[in-house]
Amino acid sequence: MGDLTGRRIVLGVTGGIAAYKAVDVCRRLVDAGAHVAPVLTKGALRFVGAATFDALASERVQTSLWDEQNPIPHTRLGQGADAIVVCPATARLLSDYRSGRSGDLLTATLLATRAPVVLCPAMHTEMWEQPAVQENVQVLAARGAEIVGPDVGRLAGGDMGAGRLAAPSAIVDAVERVLAGGGRDLEGRTVLVTAGGTREPICPVRYIGNRSSGKQGHALAVEAAARGAKVLCVSTVPRGAPDVPGIEVVGVDTAAEMAEAVQRLAPGADYVLMAAAVADFRPVGVADQKMKKADGPPEIRLEPTTDILAELGRTRTPGQVIVGFAAETTDLRQNAAAKLTAKGADLIVANDVTAPDTGFDHDTNAVVLLDAEGGEAVVPLAGKRQIARAVLDAAIDIRHRHNARNGETE
Ligand code: CTP
Repeated sequence: MGDLTGRRIVLGVTGGIAAYKAVDVCRRLVDAGAHVAPVLTKGALRFVGAATFDALASERVQTSLWDEQNPIPHTRLGQGADAIVVCPATARLLSDYRSGRSGDLLTATLLATRAPVVLCPAMHTEMWEQPAVQENVQVLAARGAEIVGPDVGRLAGGDMGAGRLAAPSAIVDAVERVLAGGGRDLEGRTVLVTAGGTREPICPVRYIGNRSSGKQGHALAVEAAARGAKVLCVSTVPRGAPDVPGIEVVGVDTAAEMAEAVQRLAPGADYVLMAAAVADFRPVGVADQKMKKADGPPEIRLEPTTDILAELGRTRTPGQVIVGFAAETTDLRQNAAAKLTAKGADLIVANDVTAPDTGFDHDTNAVVLLDAEGGEAVVPLAGKRQIARAVLDAAIDIRHRHNARNGETE
């Protein structure tokens, strides 16, 4: 981890109930040696007093673009910052920053900086899950902002769900990480990720499918792009895929189309992440016409599809890291470990889809990471973006270990 001694951090605080936790973040940054300049929005001042930050931070609180003592404060703050952290970041801040609006000192400072930006969203679950908010976060992440949280937990008013501000220690860790340059550790790498469930047609109308939403695969794509990778995202839900720079989306429907796309793209990829739920069997032949009820229950004969992950395990290029997923309902570790070996993957991301708030269509997940060297890590319930971060951290580690063994450096 980096050292914050002497680093200039602008701490932006917006008007959400979690603003009181920014006080703790401020204190931790100062304790770690940083010079903290607090910028509070008008909304933030309704939740916490300027005097609190005046007492704890390294400079007086600033709230306005129109300060006579201190002309053009946003350029001074933005240009002088080593990093900016916005904690909490409300839906409005995310929207303004995404669209380049600079109506107040904080948004103007964000536009006037080239320093890394850490955004810590916090809001009610309904707001966090709005497509508009999710899209803003994806775009900002793809432009290089480090998104920390939100966590799942108790929210204002007693509700439970995703939207709680990340822990202050995690926020300070993220500031250290971006300052250490760790934010772009996939620069120059190509990441191939699959997402969603395949659909195997029975007739022109019906298909055999599964409950995968593509959310975990898409979160991996966004996280990899945010870390500097060129991302190829083969998705069965291309309309739900992130439409952001750095991610090329290839839409597919069936297991055969996914296999074709992956086999074509994998040789150029440094990492392949098989997050898609691929059908193991498909109907033999597709009926030309819609099957009619009057004809009675159809007999559908099935044949196996290609196991794409196993194929990748056999045909991998030197140094390539291959990650598989295992959605299980029983014997999580045994089943996942068996898949790891049988398919020749470097890492298996296993989740128990029967556990609350995990797996299909949820915005959260909880996984166990098993690697081919016998390593195991538990990632507790968190947003799919955070799960993606842990998966990529583990995959990067594996690549470094491979390289170290082969005496190579990157
Ligand atoms: N997978 C694949 N091609 C298939 C089936 C699965 O590439 N035809 C990949 C998935 O993308 C996932 C991993 O293999 O990364 C495990 O998928 P899963 O469906 O859990 O495993 P299966 O081998 O199909 O085993 P089972 O259905 O018996 O649990």
